[in-house]
Amino acid sequence: MSESRRHMIAVLPGDGTGPEVINEGKKVLLAAGRKFNIDFEFTEFDFGGDRYLKTGETLPEGAIEQLKKFKAIYLGAIGHPDVAPGILELGILLSLRFELDQYINLRPVKLYPGVDCPLKNKKPEDIDFVVVRENTGDLYAGHGGTTRKGTQYEVATQVMVYDRQMVDRCLEYAFDLAVERKKEGKPGKLTLVHKTNVMTFVGDMWFRAFMEMSGKYPQIQTDYNHVDASCMWMVKNPEWYDVIVTANMFGDIITDLGAMIQGGMGIAAGGNINPYGTSMFEPIGGSAPKYTGMNIINPLAAIEAGRMMLKHLGEAEAANAIEEAVSSICTRVSSLSAGKMGYSTSEVGDMVSEYILSH
Ligand code: IPM
Ligand code: MN
Repeated sequence: MSESRRHMIAVLPGDGTGPEVINEGKKVLLAAGRKFNIDFEFTEFDFGGDRYLKTGETLPEGAIEQLKKFKAIYLGAIGHPDVAPGILELGILLSLRFELDQYINLRPVKLYPGVDCPLKNKKPEDIDFVVVRENTGDLYAGHGGTTRKGTQYEVATQVMVYDRQMVDRCLEYAFDLAVERKKEGKPGKLTLVHKTNVMTFVGDMWFRAFMEMSGKYPQIQTDYNHVDASCMWMVKNPEWYDVIVTANMFGDIITDLGAMIQGGMGIAAGGNINPYGTSMFEPIGGSAPKYTGMNIINPLAAIEAGRMMLKHLGEAEAANAIEEAVSSICTRVSSLSAGKMGYSTSEVGDMVSEYILSH
């Protein structure tokens, strides 16, 4: 008998429906583990809104050091209706991304068969691309400030910050991903999305870096879209995309559009990747407080985040089994929306697990 592999995973269920969907995600990971001889050791952390309301702390002292011991974090959702907007986002989610230097936000946009797509006449073969969103710089970097606050002449700035190595490491990841996908039969095309017609400094740096690096990847076809145009093409011709690479803010915006064309927040997942350190996998949707505790939220996005985590941990076979199971369950639920699936949260988790174990 082959020896089993073991993965230590930090679990942050977080707020709202986070714990419910993470439960189903863990259930599915354990099922895949049973089938493919993988052991998991889950270590849970209670970071989130409830803890903040009790203690006043977002991430406690030493949390980052503790998390750095793990290769992967499995995150439910961060966001609490009783906490002012921004506190938990900055204090937990963005802090983790920055402190752990998770410089890639990987967001696949894939339409599974049977999923209701809001784009007329678009089929699964038309919607299968990945957005590589830079995840540490840009308008998120915290450069800026306010002067003359509260007066009629108040000035506020928020600066689009990039240095060349941040751009290069992100582009390199995206080119490498396009190469990997090409080996799997995908087109081998990388599109840079920016706004070089207006962002003549930072956009120009991205564009030059992109063109320079493309010389090292002759097998990859390159293209460039302005971000506004990319929103148009994602709706009109999503089949043109294979891998998109873009800056943090543009990536944030276009991946919500991406999530909708793949069937919505019920299925959209992402990975915050540090290829050399601790990465974090999460459903893209929020904590959905109004559905908390009702057993009606769709756990497929969290299950998909778990699949991405397995792939990142080198468990491609188990990850593929989850993908097949999710794809099949998508044809059985009546909708991907909370409360409209025709099954409860835990039933969907059971169905995915059973599919994995019986195929
Ligand atoms: C996302 C979210 C976050 C972001 C917010 C919650 C800070 O919108 O993960 O896309 O802007 O990155
Ligand atoms: Mn977002």
